Formats: sequence, C-alpha cells, structure tokens
Amino acid sequence: MSAEIEVRSLEKIFKMGDQVVRALDGVDLIIPAHSFTVIMGPSGSGKSTLLYLVGGLDKPTKGEVLVNGKPVDFTNDINLALYRRKTVGFIFQSFNLVSTMTALENVSFPMWFAGTSRAKRRQRATSLLEQVGLANRAKHKPTELSGGQQQRVAFARAMVNDPPLILADEPTGNLDTTSGQRIMRMLHEYYQQGKTVVVVSHDERMKQFATHVIYLLDGKIVTEQEFQNASSFALLDDEMEEGEQP
Ligand SMILES: Nc1ncnc2c1ncn2[C@@H]1O[C@H](COP(=O)(O)OP(=O)(O)OP(=O)(O)O)[C@@H](O)[C@H]1O
Ligand SMILES: [Mg+2]
Repeated sequence: MSAEIEVRSLEKIFKMGDQVVRALDGVDLIIPAHSFTVIMGPSGSGKSTLLYLVGGLDKPTKGEVLVNGKPVDFTNDINLALYRRKTVGFIFQSFNLVSTMTALENVSFPMWFAGTSRAKRRQRATSLLEQVGLANRAKHKPTELSGGQQQRVAFARAMVNDPPLILADEPTGNLDTTSGQRIMRMLHEYYQQGKTVVVVSHDERMKQFATHVIYLLDGKIVTEQEFQNASSFALLDDEMEEGEQP
C-alpha cells in the first residue's frame, strides 16, 4: 500500500503576543504515491511545519491535506489519531525515543496502540531491530546508545506498523557519514518496497535518492532557480560577516 498526498492552499500561522509568524504561506503540492520526495530549505522556512501538518501532528490555520483523495479530518482528534496510526510513520528531528524504555520497547510501542498481540509485538520489533543492525542492543535504553543507533531505533519504530507513508525530519542531521548513509539507504529501500517517503534534509547527498525535490523559502514553495539565487545571497551575507568583500 502506498499513499498519494495532495496539499491545497495550506497555511499555518503562529501568533505569539503581537508577533505573527506565517510558517506556511499558501502551499500547494502533490506528492505521488510510491515516490521519494526531499524537502529542502533554510532554517525557519517551514519544513517541519509542513511535515507535521501532512502527518496530522498539528492543525493548519487554513487549507487541506488529502491522502488518496480523502481529506484529513483536522476537526476531529480521534479521526486524526486514527489517520496517524494507520497511515503515517514519523521520524522526528530529535529522535523522540522514550528514555525509560529499552530499544525493543520503544520499537514495540506503536503496535500496542494498534492492538497487536504481545507475542507479535515482540517478534516484529525484534525482527526490525535486526534489520537496522541493532539486535545486540535490544535491551539498551536511549542514553546507552549512540546518536546513530538512536536514529536507527527511531527508524524501526516508524516502520513497525508498516505505514504507507514515512515522514522523516532531518533523519541524518547530527550523524556521522556512515550512519547517515545507512539511514538514507534504509529510507530508499522503504521507497523501493512501494511506499511514499518524504524527507526533510539539508544533505545534498539525499537528492541522489529523490524522485522529487521541493524547495521552501519563507513558507512558500519556490523553483530550484529561485532557491539557488536566494542561497547564493545567503552565502554572500555569511562571507561578508567574516569580513570578506562580496
Ligand atoms: N510552535 C510554534 N510557535 C511559534 N512559532 C513557531 C512554532 N513552530 C515553528 N514556529 C516558527 O515557524 C517558522 C517555521 O518553523 P519550522 O520549524 O517549520 O522551520 P524549519 O524549516 O523546520 O527549520 P529548521 O531547519 O531550523 O528545522 C519559524 O520561523 C519558527 O520560528
Ligand atoms: Mg525543522
């Protein structure tokens, strides 16, 4: 099973006192089923916000998200929870593992909500930990694992209910090259199984796996050309800050 995502006129406005932040400023987007989409953009451009809305983890100020043609019901928390459980596997920018649980328990956790039997939960979680190369770390808690290992546990947890859609927010951020490449390969394999994968990444190497690349600037989707132009200005600013001439 795979999922086609359509985003229509999506807006997310955060109000904090007098300050208004247009985190997403009217985004229209189609992410085809069985695709590997990479979302790029500078810090604060709205990447995580977009991923959260598509994943039903937050509600838009305006606009719609449709999955296989059906609108996500943001008005009903139970429907929203069901959508997350059935459709979405989320890998967070910070790994968000439960610190008091072992690796095996962390991976098993979402299956408990899905009503899977204890024996099945254990079997599936063990097999996923094997797949990510952590069979010998099943009893370790997050603080007893390296960053790359924690990220692999988070990956196994996101896949445990076999969701048609995987959303990953900077899954290779803060990882060394080898761990980063392993995560990219695993995401690509998931795509090859026919799933829909959406990854927020600053990592240019992620593009080699992409079927689609989306660029965000100030809460809006822009073309690659507009993005490159803006990036070269940013680079110029950085250099000037270090006292160089433009
Ligand atoms: N809960 C919130 N309350 C208020 N403002 C927020 C909130 N979450 C995000 N923002 C603001 O919305 C904008 C977009 O944030 P977002 O987290 O989507 O950026 P991002 O592209 O993921 O950045 P990064 O690459 O640093 O993770 C930012 O200006 C941010 O300060
Ligand atoms: Mg972010």
